[in-house]
Amino acid sequence: MDLKQATPQDLAAALESAEAAYTGLRGCNLALDMTRGKPAPEQLDLADEMLTIVGHGDTAGDDGTDYRNYGILAGIPEARAFFAEYMEVGPKEIVVGGNSSLTMMYDTIMGGMYYGMPGGDAPWKDQGTVKFICPVPGYDRHFAICERLGIEMLTVAKTPEGPDLDAVEELPKDPAVKGIWCVPKYSNPSGETYSDATVQRLAEMPVAAPDFRVVWDNAYNVHHLGDGPAPLANMLDACKQAGNPDRVLMFGSTSKITHAGAGVAVMAASEANVADALKKMFYSSIGPDKINQLRHVRFFKDMAGLLAHMDKQAEIVAPKFAAVDRALETHLAGKGIATWTAPKGGYFVSVEVLDGCASAIIEMANRAGVKLTPAGATHPYGKGPADSFIRLAPTVQSVAEIETAMEVFCACVELVCAKKLQETA
Ligand SMILES: Cc1ncc(COP(=O)(O)O)c(C=O)c1O
Repeated sequence: MDLKQATPQDLAAALESAEAAYTGLRGCNLALDMTRGKPAPEQLDLADEMLTIVGHGDTAGDDGTDYRNYGILAGIPEARAFFAEYMEVGPKEIVVGGNSSLTMMYDTIMGGMYYGMPGGDAPWKDQGTVKFICPVPGYDRHFAICERLGIEMLTVAKTPEGPDLDAVEELPKDPAVKGIWCVPKYSNPSGETYSDATVQRLAEMPVAAPDFRVVWDNAYNVHHLGDGPAPLANMLDACKQAGNPDRVLMFGSTSKITHAGAGVAVMAASEANVADALKKMFYSSIGPDKINQLRHVRFFKDMAGLLAHMDKQAEIVAPKFAAVDRALETHLAGKGIATWTAPKGGYFVSVEVLDGCASAIIEMANRAGVKLTPAGATHPYGKGPADSFIRLAPTVQSVAEIETAMEVFCACVELVCAKKLQETA
């Protein structure tokens, strides 16, 4: 029954049954956490062979270089070749870094602020106000970087094909707009993958700032839920073809492929951007953790090895997303109070509830022992304008735990939304 059309009596009945369900679940003393997209222990187990794959007397590269020692800032050649294939670029268009792509992105934006980007004639900080385009809902840490560095955030809505490009294309007419954040595949948190047309328009759109960058955070490149990785057009190729080879900086990591926090991060870009990044990195590092890079190359062997590994991950993760979807369909479908994504990959499900209800739902769930990401986290400054987005991260818990957490969540959605409808009737 659509609660928005319901009679006062039916609304009261729905509220009463949601309240009863919630009270029952609250008595169960639950302690479940769906706040962050973390791999489950079983996913991490799949990569444990890496812990012993590089052993005593076995630490040299193909050309005999001892990887226990300092140096090779851009990453070992074996890893550059491997991750070039992963990112679909040439080996000279890649830097293989440390354990975190977020660190690389932070350093990149910081480097733009402090030293500038190829194409520009001054550091961003010396050019007045700096602005970035932020498709919402988006990744909280992208927005946190902007907030930290005093970069003004311009929000644009998302569509199933990526950011709303009609809105995006207007903004870089202002030379203060220096970039846009993009999570182009299985986006965090809304799950969409950019269409070919989106990739092309982002590569081609006129921008006033010669040092404008598309920050292409392809964190979920191979993280499908069973159908194989979704196709995504090659953004660096598109930029080259559009005559804007330096426009894009692409990032990725194995954080959610091997061991989170002990993976390998990469940046892929034009040779000019790679040279600029290495020049900036020179001051902060004598070289990356090459042993970890070697471990990764030996563990996967080739892209077929990596893709087979991700198929095994999908077998673990897909039933959890199915459990989320099942609960939402069972409890909320047709009630007119919530819509949600059914992603084909990535780490999140996004739920949109009636305006003004998200924070109250999260608070109620929390009181019943189910922790959820704060409502505004998917928006700049931690404030969703309509208080309507909720991000669910269903990877780390077991299917049974997710089923319980979703019972709580759905009861909270129905309770808060029904109350809201009663108040506004
Ligand atoms: C879109 C996105 N980018 C980057 C990261 C962090 O990646 P890393 O562990 O390589 O720093 C995450 C983690 O949740 C993410 O969702």
